[in-house]
Amino acid sequence: METGWPESESSRRFGVLFAGLGAISTTLIAGVEAIKRGLAQPVGSVALLGTLDVDPEGDPRHVRIRDYLDLPDLDDLVFGAWDIVDTDGYAVARQARVLEPDLLDSLTHELAAVRPWPGVFDPRFNRRGPVTFAKTGRDFLDLAEQVQQDILRFHEAHGLERSVVMWCGSTEAYLEPAEAHQTLAGFEAAMRDSDHAVVAPSMIYAYAALSLGLPFVNATPSRTVDIPALVELAQLHGAPTAGKDLKTGQTLLKTIVAPGLRDRMLGLEGWFSTNILGNGDGATLNDPDAFRTKQESKLSVLSSILRPDLYPDLYGHLHHQVKINYYPPRGDNKESWDTIDLFGWLGYRMSIKIDFLCRDSILAAPLMLDLALFMDLAKRAGLAGPQDWLGFYFKSPMTSTGQPPEHELSVQAAVLRRELRALVPVPMAAPVPPRVA
Ligand SMILES: NC(=O)c1ccc[n+]([C@@H]2O[C@H](COP(=O)([O-])OP(=O)(O)OC[C@H]3O[C@@H](n4cnc5c(N)ncnc54)[C@H](O)[C@@H]3O)[C@@H](O)[C@H]2O)c1
Repeated sequence: METGWPESESSRRFGVLFAGLGAISTTLIAGVEAIKRGLAQPVGSVALLGTLDVDPEGDPRHVRIRDYLDLPDLDDLVFGAWDIVDTDGYAVARQARVLEPDLLDSLTHELAAVRPWPGVFDPRFNRRGPVTFAKTGRDFLDLAEQVQQDILRFHEAHGLERSVVMWCGSTEAYLEPAEAHQTLAGFEAAMRDSDHAVVAPSMIYAYAALSLGLPFVNATPSRTVDIPALVELAQLHGAPTAGKDLKTGQTLLKTIVAPGLRDRMLGLEGWFSTNILGNGDGATLNDPDAFRTKQESKLSVLSSILRPDLYPDLYGHLHHQVKINYYPPRGDNKESWDTIDLFGWLGYRMSIKIDFLCRDSILAAPLMLDLALFMDLAKRAGLAGPQDWLGFYFKSPMTSTGQPPEHELSVQAAVLRRELRALVPVPMAAPVPPRVA
């Protein structure tokens, strides 16, 4: 197929840089290497397995998304990472206990090659210390500059011109919106003052990446890039952003089931959601401040789908509760239960139980892969700021207008496909300038 994308091999390759080398990032790296060897299929990846009807007005003509958009191959992805633990991808993946040891042993070389750079850490946002593998510097701007140097050195070492940076570190303690988040000037002043009360470590990675014009993804519920100051920075440097909090297990099902109940005009009295989870994420969420960040992200979906403002008799008195319990025996194999108390004709009560025995990082890895490929695409197509069309991937999608997001999965999927169909190949953006903040 004739496309306008650049053809040279070096222009197809790009970096995928994880701030946080944990369960989801190592599950993605191991999966990509296994798929490259033909050991598995990229199940769960819309970018690699999905198709588009490219002529919706005419006869159906389904084309694979990866072909239509001439997406880079898995061989074109080069991985790097930051963490606050001096480790490597193999050790992390073994400890995470997501994938079978035999599979990981066969990928030792590729996984162990990913050794993190020291991260940006602040004990006020993550109480799991003590941490010694972290950057130190004059102020937060200095730390951001060090992150940029890591990126530029990585580009030079691998002959790359671009990367997508993904925040997938531990959920940070809840951070209230602040005045300094409103404008770039105010935010930079807080960075210079190293104001811990308003600048979280994940924001420093975001600031560093966006200042270089690189796409930035927030896979976590933390506020991170979802503040006006960093949206301003993203627009200024032509960098796409996306977040927050990958929509993997319980919330994914909620945004599939709730629209169906609403479409049938069935009423809801209560939706009680609870989880047991024993991975690193679960341990972090044992901290009430980190859980508050997560809870905010998980609670928002139902009211936007059910529209109690339009249907007060059906949804005006809904009790929606979400709990997460850290339960080590389960590791990454989370179990989520939902009890949905509904009512039908003449108010007669019924109940639905959902017991989802899921695997957190197995569900998250293909979302991260799609986001890496689509955010790179967005950058090459000249898009900047929050990418609403990627709301499909998130529990709490960022929007470019600041308006409440769409949560209904089928609507989000339609928006994603419409945008992919419309994306016109353009020449790749200019290389990242070798300049720091
Ligand atoms: N797994 C899922 O399905 C899923 C879904 C949605 C969101 N998330 C979010 O993704 C994030 C990662 O999840 P995970 O399961 O990989 O967790 P994990 O605990 O396995 O990994 C997190 C990693 O981040 C590192 N880290 C912590 N603070 C850091 C910092 N300031 N800089 C760099 N690294 C730092 C930790 O040392 C750890 O290696 C969490 O915030 C989680 O809430 C995960």
